[in-house]
Amino acid sequence: MTRHFLTGAELTAAELDALLVRALELKRAPLSSRVLEGKSVGLIFQKPSTRTRVSFEVGIGELGGHAVVLRSDELQLSRGEALRDTALVLSRHLAALGVRSDADETVQELAEHSAIPVINMLTPLHHPCQALADLLTLREACGSLAGLRVAFIGDGNNVARSLALLGTLAGIDLAVASPPGYTLGADLPLPAGGRGSLSLHAAPQEAVAGARAVYTDVWVSMGDESSAAKRRAALDGYRVDDALLDAAAPGAFAMHDLPAHPGEEISAEVLYGTRQRIWEQAENRRHAQKALLELLVSAP
Ligand code: CP
Ligand code: NVA
Repeated sequence: MTRHFLTGAELTAAELDALLVRALELKRAPLSSRVLEGKSVGLIFQKPSTRTRVSFEVGIGELGGHAVVLRSDELQLSRGEALRDTALVLSRHLAALGVRSDADETVQELAEHSAIPVINMLTPLHHPCQALADLLTLREACGSLAGLRVAFIGDGNNVARSLALLGTLAGIDLAVASPPGYTLGADLPLPAGGRGSLSLHAAPQEAVAGARAVYTDVWVSMGDESSAAKRRAALDGYRVDDALLDAAAPGAFAMHDLPAHPGEEISAEVLYGTRQRIWEQAENRRHAQKALLELLVSAP
């Protein structure tokens, strides 16, 4: 049966754990797997990307495969061809398909009609590939994820939601601090079998208490530009800086999926200083996604 990766909830806790172990092996030996030898993987981008595009394209090459990068304005999709027809045709050529889209429904519909695994490379609601790299980074830094306290400060967006879904599946206790109007839903359905927890807070200082890592993301995500001024006003005060890290657990470090806006959601001192694992996190995208591709294309 074709396995997709749309929200991350498709994985069991045991599969997620094994994927992170495998990602660490691939990080140590990047050219040790040829699972995509003779195969091609399509990557559709309806929105800009630096990390996702490069980490997938390079990672697919390291696995012996060929990446076919498709900008949506170059596809017949942009002239009205059906998602169903696109999925049926791409399934005849490719071993897997990554999609970054401005609508979750687009990725779901492609998956519905696709005979190959479809991977969500970011939608308005989810960014599960980012969460895999986040968990890999946390595991490298902190060891076991079971019972690990992590804080997320800022907009309850796609990155926060995926960290909550996959983080709790991995056993993390995630505390999210957001201003009113920008919270993750308290009713967010967490995947079955997760051993972690999710708590929602208003005050950043409360969320970071005891946290080993303090994560943040942009205040204005792609697609939110029309409400940028309102968002900046509401989220001012939800900034990861040295003072906030001082209120977390001793040795706590900052995380950010990037791109960053120094002076907004994170201070330049933290972003370019020693109290962060942000650049390692960006590298870990490649290792985590290679383990994901192995899992999906090897599925019986
Ligand atoms: N973090 C992330 O997904 O970055 P890009 O938008 O550059 O791919
Ligand atoms: N929340 C951000 C993440 C970018 C990688 C966005 O959706 O634009």
